[in-house]
Amino acid sequence: MSTSTATTSVVNLQPPQKLVQPYIQTSLTEVTDILPIKPPCRIFFKNELEQPSGSFKLRGIGHLVQKSIENALQNHPNKTIHVFASSGGNAGLAAAYSAYFYKVKCTVVVPVICKPVVQEKLKSYGADIILFGNTINEADQHLKNLLNSVDLESVSPVYCHPFNNPIIWEGHSSLVDEVTTQLGKQEKQHLKGMVCSFGGGGLYNGIYEGMKNNNVEGEILLLETAQAPTLTQSLEADEVITLKSVNSIATSLACSYTTEQSLEYFKNKSQIESRLELIDDVDALRACLAYNKCLKKVVEPACGVALSVVYNKIDLLYKNFGHLHPDDIVVIVVCGGSCTTESDLSTYKQMITKSESKL
Ligand SMILES: Cc1ncc(COP(=O)(O)O)c(C=O)c1O
Repeated sequence: MSTSTATTSVVNLQPPQKLVQPYIQTSLTEVTDILPIKPPCRIFFKNELEQPSGSFKLRGIGHLVQKSIENALQNHPNKTIHVFASSGGNAGLAAAYSAYFYKVKCTVVVPVICKPVVQEKLKSYGADIILFGNTINEADQHLKNLLNSVDLESVSPVYCHPFNNPIIWEGHSSLVDEVTTQLGKQEKQHLKGMVCSFGGGGLYNGIYEGMKNNNVEGEILLLETAQAPTLTQSLEADEVITLKSVNSIATSLACSYTTEQSLEYFKNKSQIESRLELIDDVDALRACLAYNKCLKKVVEPACGVALSVVYNKIDLLYKNFGHLHPDDIVVIVVCGGSCTTESDLSTYKQMITKSESKL
C-alpha cells in the first residue's frame, strides 16, 4: 500500500472521498557507527517513535479508522461517526489521535491503573476517557457494553481492537513499503531482515505482509519477554493459547493471546523465515537505557525488547542471522511508545541494580 504524509486534518468530511492517512512517513537512519558494540553488518533504525501518537500503532489503527470513516461516509452519510477503544496504551493513543485527526468523536475506556501521562495525552486529543476496572479485559468488557447501547440509527461506531484485525496489519505493512523505498533498489538487495518486538502479533503480521508485498526475501527476528511469552507458548502448543497471567514490565507487550495469523505466518517458511527469542524484562530495561545514552531519546521497554539485539543482547543477532557480511542490512523497528517518561529511566536503573544484586 502507498503512504501519504499528512499535515492537515480533514475538516469537512464529505462523501465520496479518499481520506489522507493520519500517520506520517518516519525516518530510517543508519546507526552502524554509533552503536557501542560494532555490529557484524549495517544496522538501520526505523524510527516509529516519530509518529504523532508516539508509536507504530498509528499506522494500523489510523488505517482502520480511515477505512471505517470512508465506508461510513459512503453508506451512512447522515450518521455521527464515533471511535471506540479500550487500550490504556499506545493503541488507545493511536485511536484517539486518529479521531482527533479526522475530527470525529472518540471514547476510550481504560483500566483505573492507566498511567497519568497516557490519560493526559488522550485528553489532549479530545477523547472522552472512562476509567473502568483493574485490567484491560475489564475495561474492554465495559466498552463492549457501551457499544451495545449505541443507537445505530444515528451513530456509526468504529471499534478499534489493539492488534487483531487484518486492516490493522495492512496499515502496519506500510512501514516496510517505506523502508524499501528509503533504502532504494540497490540497498534493498542487501536487506537481510527486520527485527521487532511481539505483543499480540499485529506488528509482526504487518511486517510479514509488507515484506511479501515488496518481494523482500529475508528474515524476521521476533522478540518477546520471558514474562509475557504469548507466542512462545502458542508455538509450543501449536495453537493459540490464552496465558493465565502476564506480568511484564514491557506492559505494551503483555497480551494474553496472539493472532491465529501470526502462528500461520511463523510456520510458513517459504519466502520469509521467522525466528523468535525470549529475553528477560531486565534486558529490555537495559536496552532502553543504552538507547537513551546513545540517542538521547526515550522509548518503552516494549521497544527496548527489539533494541536489545544491538545493545546488550547482540549475541542474538549473530545467532539468528547466520553469516552476516559488512554490506548486509538489518532494520530494527524502533516501535516507540508513550508510556515511558524520562523519570521512569531512573527507576529502570534502580530495578537493574536490584536484579544484579540478587545474583
Ligand atoms: C510500543 C509497542 N511496541 C510493540 C507492541 C506490540 O505490538 P503487537 O501487539 O502488534 O504485537 C506494542 C503493542 O501495544 C507497543 O505499544
